[in-house]
Amino acid sequence: MSEPIITLQNVSKSFGQNSSSIQVLEDLSLDLKKGESLALVGASGSGKSTLLHVICGLEKPNKGNVYIKGVNITDLSTDERSLFRGKEVGFVYQFHHLLPDLTALENIALPAMLSGIGKEEAFEISASLLEQVNLNDKKANRPNELSGGERQRVAIARAMSNNPSCLIMDEPTGNLDKKNVENFMNLLMDMVSTREIALIIATHDNNVSSRLDKLLNLE
Ligand SMILES: Nc1ncnc2c1ncn2[C@@H]1O[C@H](COP(=O)(O)OP(=O)(O)OP(=O)(O)O)[C@@H](O)[C@H]1O
Ligand SMILES: [Mg+2]
Repeated sequence: MSEPIITLQNVSKSFGQNSSSIQVLEDLSLDLKKGESLALVGASGSGKSTLLHVICGLEKPNKGNVYIKGVNITDLSTDERSLFRGKEVGFVYQFHHLLPDLTALENIALPAMLSGIGKEEAFEISASLLEQVNLNDKKANRPNELSGGERQRVAIARAMSNNPSCLIMDEPTGNLDKKNVENFMNLLMDMVSTREIALIIATHDNNVSSRLDKLLNLE
């Protein structure tokens, strides 16, 4: 049987204290294996982003445990968690968060370098990823010189440059038209299945959720 990459056990998360506290996630459990994908849906405010942050260790749950590749990340210190995240997780935000002063090639090389790969190899990885997302001719362009769809392709490539075991995406297609969403999903699903990455996408877009293996509705 395929090994579990992401396991959540009875995870609860609330913000604030006492009477003003709001319960966002309640007793949530899930299991995602190598190469499996999950769509996270639910109304605005239902806790999709919160859950993604808990899974990648940016937020700590109040109760329960999160395991990534068998490591209980809830037990790690803040520093250990960021180090672990840098090696095992790729994250794509709705508005890509590419660094404006770096070229496409440099943006993609950065997570590889931060995960401990040498500069030369990181740039080789970056060049090969740029080719896989069909942006060979945009190597030297900065984000403001790219279209919305091109930026999101650079963002996928960047999220893969540390060779992660799981990829977490928060509304990655929010600002793309239907044709670009389809291109984006074709490319993404191809890369994810080749690399056997566990994928979670928070999305409002039915064209995205319908392509994934599992669905979790937070409401
Ligand atoms: N740091 C925080 N402190 C207090 N409340 C928070 C915090 N982060 C999120 N919340 C609250 O938790 C709830 C869930 O927020 P979250 O961002 O996870 O929703 P979402 O499902 O991602 O919504 P959207 O679809 O609009 O992105 C909201 O009511 C929000 O106000
Ligand atoms: Mg959100």
